[in-house]
Amino acid sequence: MKSFTFAALAVLLSAHTATAQLNIFAKLAGKKYFGSAVDNPALSDLPYKKILSDVKEFGSLTASNTLKWETVEAQRGVFNFTGGDEILALGRRNGQLVRGHTCVWHSQLAPWVEAGNFSAKELNKIIESHCGTIVRHYRGKIYAWDVVNEAFEDDGTFRQSVFYKTLGDSFFETSLRVARKADPSTKLYLNDYNIEGVNAKSDAYYNLIKDLKRKRVPIDGIGAQGHLIVGRVPNTIQENFQRFADLGVDIAITELDIRMELPVTPEKLEQQKKDYETVIKACKAVKRCIGITIWDYTDKYSWVPSWFEGEGAALPWDENLKKKPAYYGIVSGWIAR
Ligand SMILES: *[C@@H]1O[C@H](CO)[C@@H](O)[C@H](O)[C@H]1NC(C)=O
Ligand SMILES: *[C@@H]1O[C@H](CO)[C@@H](O)[C@H](O)[C@H]1NC(C)=O
Repeated sequence: MKSFTFAALAVLLSAHTATAQLNIFAKLAGKKYFGSAVDNPALSDLPYKKILSDVKEFGSLTASNTLKWETVEAQRGVFNFTGGDEILALGRRNGQLVRGHTCVWHSQLAPWVEAGNFSAKELNKIIESHCGTIVRHYRGKIYAWDVVNEAFEDDGTFRQSVFYKTLGDSFFETSLRVARKADPSTKLYLNDYNIEGVNAKSDAYYNLIKDLKRKRVPIDGIGAQGHLIVGRVPNTIQENFQRFADLGVDIAITELDIRMELPVTPEKLEQQKKDYETVIKACKAVKRCIGITIWDYTDKYSWVPSWFEGEGAALPWDENLKKKPAYYGIVSGWIAR
């Protein structure tokens, strides 16, 4: 098996890395997928959609916005699955997995959830209805759900969201249990940024997952978002991923991008290539790191410039849908021995 894999690699490599394809290399490295996020409006851009739909590049899609609370349940009890259904249908047509993002999150939250001043009992019901309805809607069709998103601060304390302030840490259990009931076959993840390396925040997740496991609360994976900065990739990614694997959960990098200060220079692009390679290698080295999603694939649709003043160029394809050195950094990461 192994020798076949390396023989296959050799053929692919000699065929030239200029036509390299990221999902193929991820699979040859033993992973489930290499994927991309996509926001629905970009689907009217046909050259963009063509690359996104190439299953040799992307084996998984994530809706970057349209499954968030403010879109899916803008009004209490009124659900809108238009955007999510469009991404799901596209993924299925293309033979791609789909990840679900996200159920319980303090941001891009429908305003009525905070404005209602709900009691603990009522807010529990609201979470059960929200997560139960959206996860059930896609029952059997979504590979994994980010059930709870961004629930800790960088110092490892609980984020003071409406959920935590009203319910304490019980909302993790409530959300995970209702999601499991709504779709027994989907993988249940907690997802956050700045937890790629070993630090106070990833320690907090480590302890939480250990506790959830002890209480037999369903939890299948930890999603490290991977919003990183060129030249500042943590050097403890592999060690960190391995400790989660040893706890008995999968790891996925769910929102990878590596941004730089603008303007773009050849030196920064080279460093970015190395940084992508470093991250891919860390995932490759940990068996239970099962896949990587980039947070869209082209700088044309990256969230970075509108969020981080003066920064951008974070993705492996540039604004004209041309592959950057980062693309080949990803390939090198997957084929490294
Ligand atoms: C449903 O959501 C989509 C975006 O995903 C939006 O374009 C549409 O207007 C929404 N429909 C309603 C009835 O709010
Ligand atoms: C929120 O609810 C509590 C108890 O139900 C009540 O004491 C408080 O005044 C309410 N606050 C607002 C802003 O409505």
